[in-house]
Amino acid sequence: MEKETQKKVLLSGIQPSGDLHLGNYLGAIKNWAELSDQFECYWFMADLHTITVRQNPADLRRRTLTQIAVYIACGLDPEKNTIFVQSHVPAHAELGWVLDCYTMFGELSRMTQFKDKSAKHADNINAGLFTYPCLMAADILLYQPDFVPVGEDQKQHVEICRDIANRFNHVYGEVFRMPEPYIPKQGARVMSLNQPDTKMSKSIPEGCVFLLEKPEDILRKFKRAVTDSDTEHCVRYAPGEKPGVSNLIQIYAACTGKSFEDVEREFDGKGYGVFKPAVGEAVVETLRPIREETERLLADKAYLESVYRAGAEKASYVANKTLRKVYKKVGFLAP
Ligand code: TYM
Repeated sequence: MEKETQKKVLLSGIQPSGDLHLGNYLGAIKNWAELSDQFECYWFMADLHTITVRQNPADLRRRTLTQIAVYIACGLDPEKNTIFVQSHVPAHAELGWVLDCYTMFGELSRMTQFKDKSAKHADNINAGLFTYPCLMAADILLYQPDFVPVGEDQKQHVEICRDIANRFNHVYGEVFRMPEPYIPKQGARVMSLNQPDTKMSKSIPEGCVFLLEKPEDILRKFKRAVTDSDTEHCVRYAPGEKPGVSNLIQIYAACTGKSFEDVEREFDGKGYGVFKPAVGEAVVETLRPIREETERLLADKAYLESVYRAGAEKASYVANKTLRKVYKKVGFLAP
């Protein structure tokens, strides 16, 4: 029992703003499942974050529930992991406000995600989009985690979270533990299949493989994947020169557990016509059990409800402890 309490803490979340895709899986959830035995883990659906961009309410509710089922289907056992919905734990929004007041306009303006999203949604550059990193910092700091496992694109947000925590600790003493980003060696940046210079995301659906997509659609997307215009036609890992092929090697390696060298050897002398369908098959086989288990879980709404209720209760207990400490430090009168 004592050992249990000494476990290091991990936390991460995904926005239920679109159907989960292979980038979310290889960059995040797959690694979470591998780490969940050794750490005390908090995994959540970042629904508060999604409304920085307009959402269809019914779709948001459906995707949030589906995401819980996918987490479990990917191997996150609710008995060992705390799985919850961000909006069910009000402390996130509450600490988010406090941290807004300890974050500078200049540092928020430099955030890549803010710049990208405000270019994409020029008609809705709202204050929430701008202060997004403060809410994300609150998500993290409430649980005092040691590590935050994320894909490469979220590293900047974990770094600003550290800056905010440092600033706060500097004024009030050691309130927050300093979290480290934990970026996987393989799969940290899965690129779009049809635009390999852009990261895989739901906004380019033809280049994006969704976790619950039908096998025949997945295979078709891989057959059409952009390779490279060079003449050597060989399966070689060289992201600068051969971004398309290197992305496929990365995906194949992450799905099969092989090294890049093993993959190069396996397809030595074979053309892209053999390689691309093989990657598609490996992905289909990786995703098949996840899809089947997700479908099974979605048929049992009462179970999913019991998971997220228990998760919110456990998460609230931990989060409120940190929040109370913060409120006391800044000088709010105890209720
Ligand atoms: P989000 O929802 O965009 O993505 C969730 C996770 O998936 C990873 N990811 C990728 N990894 C590799 N290749 C890709 N193409 C790819 N696309 C997405 C992301 O790096 C991330 O790990 N702000 C966060 C959500 C969040 C959060 C948090 C994360 C809110 N609060 C607190 C950690 C801790 C986001 O928008 O991720």
